[in-house]
Amino acid sequence: MKRLGVLTGGGDCPGLNPVIRAVVRKAYQEGYEVIGFKNGWKGIIEGDVMPLDLRSVSGILPKGGTILGTSRTNPYKQEGAVQKVKDNFKKFGLEALIAIGGEDTLGVANRLVKEGLKAVGVPKTIDNDLSDTDYTFGFDTAINIVMECIDRLHTTAESHNRIMVVEVMGRHAGWIAMYAGIAGGADVILIPEIPIKIDEVCAIIKKRHDHGKNFSIVAVAEGAKLDDGEVLQTEKLDDFGHCRLGGIGQHLGELIEKKTGFETRVTVLGHIQRGGSPTAFDRVLGSRFGIKAVELVKQGKFGYMVSLQGNKIVEVPIEKAVGTLKTVDKEFYDMAKTFFG
Ligand code: F6P
Repeated sequence: MKRLGVLTGGGDCPGLNPVIRAVVRKAYQEGYEVIGFKNGWKGIIEGDVMPLDLRSVSGILPKGGTILGTSRTNPYKQEGAVQKVKDNFKKFGLEALIAIGGEDTLGVANRLVKEGLKAVGVPKTIDNDLSDTDYTFGFDTAINIVMECIDRLHTTAESHNRIMVVEVMGRHAGWIAMYAGIAGGADVILIPEIPIKIDEVCAIIKKRHDHGKNFSIVAVAEGAKLDDGEVLQTEKLDDFGHCRLGGIGQHLGELIEKKTGFETRVTVLGHIQRGGSPTAFDRVLGSRFGIKAVELVKQGKFGYMVSLQGNKIVEVPIEKAVGTLKTVDKEFYDMAKTFFG
């Protein structure tokens, strides 16, 4: 029986297990068996595998996270690791590898394909910042979690006459802040793509309060920039060169309180946004992606990534998707500004 390998890399997100389940279900129908590599690229470097049969994926559809585990390991950052990936690909008798991940994981897959490895990609990230796909799974779940949190913050903000700052994920792209902010009725939204002056934020809030409102909700992406640049939590970099962001919410909250005189509280949602059960949208998208990935293997379309375009699942070169991030454009931001204040 021909054999497929599958791995999940980068930050986890709801919808990974539906992809794994779909890959396994479709693969067995097509006459492949499947093994999973544990903890992203680390698993294929170290030969750490688990068999994935129909029984092992039964019941995982509603489960958040990934049954395979994940890591931010980059084989190109470890001496000899790329060769180990190639050796283990052969040793485990793989026909192809299905790499499920974001820009970093798929970037590695793309480099390996160029070096002759047979791999296809499945795009994943709650940030929704991968190019060449309308949506990545995980995003819908994340924005629904954030929207619910903003709804909850509204009632307590109103009771206490407070400004509530809510910090959400989004390193380089403000999609979560934009979508959840619009859906939750945030009064100001700050994103990495479009810096805003603190005085402008305070003016929006003050104007709203002059018009009779006694509370405001401010949604801020962790990578958002004020006039004084972004706030970093740590300078330690991961294997892909990313530092851990965080702290902009607290910084912003203190400035708003100081400049407006309104009592302000800050909520950092953090990994709550990545946990728990995927929404129906993410379960369906993940399932469709998983099936298409196996079809790409069958057709020998290595170096391609599955993608949602309109309501169709298509394939695009991984190269194209990982080249530049999909960020919020000014037109979208300006639309959201209609609801500021
Ligand atoms: O890339 C997805 C993401 O959730 C980002 O929004 C966030 O900055 C980062 O991962 C957090 O990573 P970690 O899980 O390593 O803290």
